[in-house]
Amino acid sequence: MERVLKCVRCGKTYDVFSSKTRCDCGGLLEVSLQCTLSPNLKDEFLKRRMSLEPYNESGVWRYREFVLDIEPNSIVTLPEGRTNLYKKVVDGMEVYFKHEGENPTGSFKDRGMTVGVSVAKKLGFKITACASTGNTSASLASYSAHAGLKSVVFVPKGKVALGKLSQALAYGANVLEISGDFDYAMKLVQEASSEYKLYLLNSLNPLRLEGQKTIIINTLEELGWVVPDWIIVPGGNLGNTSAFGKALKELFEFKFIDKVPRLAVIQAEGASPFYRAFKSGFKEFEPMKAETIATAIRIGNPVNYEKAVKSIEFTQGVVESVSDLEILEAKRDIDNLGIGCEPSSASTLAGLRKLRKSGVIKSSDFVVMILTGNLLKDPDTSINLHTGNIKDVKSRSRFFEIETLKDLEDALKKIVLEGE
Ligand code: F0G
Repeated sequence: MERVLKCVRCGKTYDVFSSKTRCDCGGLLEVSLQCTLSPNLKDEFLKRRMSLEPYNESGVWRYREFVLDIEPNSIVTLPEGRTNLYKKVVDGMEVYFKHEGENPTGSFKDRGMTVGVSVAKKLGFKITACASTGNTSASLASYSAHAGLKSVVFVPKGKVALGKLSQALAYGANVLEISGDFDYAMKLVQEASSEYKLYLLNSLNPLRLEGQKTIIINTLEELGWVVPDWIIVPGGNLGNTSAFGKALKELFEFKFIDKVPRLAVIQAEGASPFYRAFKSGFKEFEPMKAETIATAIRIGNPVNYEKAVKSIEFTQGVVESVSDLEILEAKRDIDNLGIGCEPSSASTLAGLRKLRKSGVIKSSDFVVMILTGNLLKDPDTSINLHTGNIKDVKSRSRFFEIETLKDLEDALKKIVLEGE
């Protein structure tokens, strides 16, 4: 199967294994498939699911024709991409949650990282690197450890949720805590990568996005290839937005699907440069200083902007922004369903609510929301939210401090009486 890296700006092409993350003109690179794929592969994809071979068990490599041709002995797979799709009724509407927080390190990043780290190994790199709001660093550290490679992660000081930082440290990463925000860390890691021969594995790396496309392929397969009206996803560095648009374009062109779902990308109000650009009809793009409780998407200058615009245009998508309060209310509700997610992932439901209110999405629409990160990633926010420490958001969960048997009796009475 022929694949090349192609600049989205000037069209110049490079070898798919050239390890370039940008074109000489500065444009973003994407993988361009030089052949067509037959929809008959759908049966083969399903058949591989029964295999005991990790390469086939992986919900990324099972779809390898859409991902990358690489010899099986270079593949570093845990295996990832075996996540659940939950059907729930929320606000009287039937919706689906695809829980990418159920990946091995607890976020969707594993789908891209299996590809990225496999290529780092194949190309003989000794050290991998990324800037991260937390999840990429956890995933990079884990996959690099599995591959026997060193990893270096650049993280913004004081703004990485506890679960993520503890993972990166535990998996043996070299953690560089930067005095500055994610956007600054992103700039530093790009400079360091070229100077120190580090293999850069942010979503700027086009091969990583080929892995992330499988979120879409996997979800559609689980839906029996019945295409939803909407796919809702949080937007930060806009890697998923870019990968989703590319996946849908390929699936449509190769006739795996006969219509294209609309993408709805949701940003936190305090970190919404893509939303603001969308409002200007993509005429203007202004990076901003980002702030939000959803630290995973606390990003003011998304590197994948150019590709993400194409995704919105191709899918006739929309971009919405939601407040931190709306994110926390949505997180409470997803948590209380017994599913749970980290704050950034809850922006999907907050966005759905806003888009329903404005009439963009109807209650009869078929909607899938992508939950990008696990509940356990950000324990501080969960505890504060569900013990009543965040005023204005009331959880159904109750927290009682029991010192005496009288406290216990009072608590039990309250619990029993409340439900009646
Ligand atoms: N949700 C979670 C849980 C994330 O960790 C991220 C990004 C996003 C959504 C946004 O995805 O960048 O593809 O638009 N986290 C990166 C990181 C930036 O470093 O872990 P995107």
